[in-house]
Amino acid sequence: MVQAATAGPILRPAPDKVLTVTAGAWLATALIGQWAFVTYILASYAWPAAQGNIAAWADRALKGYEPGDTVGNLVFGAHVMMAAVMSFGGALQLVPQIRARARGFHRWNGRVFLATAFAISLGGLYLVWVRHATTTLVGEIAITLNALLIFGFGAMAWKTAVARDIAAHRRWAMRTFMVANGVWFMRLGYMAWTILNQGPVGMGDNLEGPFDVFLSFAAYLVPLAGVEAYLRIRDGAGPTGKAVAAGVLMVLTAITAVGVFGAAAFMWGPRIVQALAA
Ligand code: HEM
Repeated sequence: MVQAATAGPILRPAPDKVLTVTAGAWLATALIGQWAFVTYILASYAWPAAQGNIAAWADRALKGYEPGDTVGNLVFGAHVMMAAVMSFGGALQLVPQIRARARGFHRWNGRVFLATAFAISLGGLYLVWVRHATTTLVGEIAITLNALLIFGFGAMAWKTAVARDIAAHRRWAMRTFMVANGVWFMRLGYMAWTILNQGPVGMGDNLEGPFDVFLSFAAYLVPLAGVEAYLRIRDGAGPTGKAVAAGVLMVLTAITAVGVFGAAAFMWGPRIVQALAA
């Protein structure tokens, strides 16, 4: 759809429309990336569990399986299984056509998304502070702040939905989506950065390099800043601001696509093949 920007024969796409279409392109890219992540989780963790071989989790995460630590193994198992559920349905919540045409699904999927995000975060805090399944203190602090933001934003998304304050709910839900997917953005960030630099730059063996430290916070704070800027520009900026925002969003969509490609091709793909072959 185009509208006449000036009196005359030249037709230009309206900045509003370009921004909406670009946001849709980002969402489609994210959906593909989320489902690739889900496939990896199911192959790496659900598949060996279905075969009665949770000991295989030991090779797949730092402390995926520890003999004798029943509680820790259960918390880890629940963490990854709920991660698959949350990641499968999460991006569908942001698709406008689903929101408009399948409200019942949107409500239930939203409840599942928030409940699993809360439970994953709670379990994650156990894995960090009780099981010590992490490498650096900075990383522990960063993921803890991530969990606190999931609790805070998720509670606001829930509260505004119950109060039927739809405008506020959409804003809190988008913020929650960004922070709840921090660990997914982190994997994309590593892959996009490595591909664009043609090698690992600023990364330490123990995740203590400058890029590791930066990404441990940036993985959720940068997407959060992006969504805040998007909401403000979408709701308040003039045509020029919207056109600039659409341009920036196109670049971010391209970076997301590089990250999704890298993660699927070099991180998740080989592990899916390995897990299914075992
Ligand atoms: C809410 C979204 C989250 C998702 C989708 C998610 C997903 C995952 C997945 C798939 C793994 C397995 C590692 C791998 O194979 O890549 C994992 C591990 C882990 N997660 Fe999460 N996670 C989330 C949030 C959190 C939070 C908020 C915390 C901490 C507060 C956390 C702490 C951990 C820890 C410590 C491990 C490492 C376990 C190990 O290597 O032994 N996660 N997570």
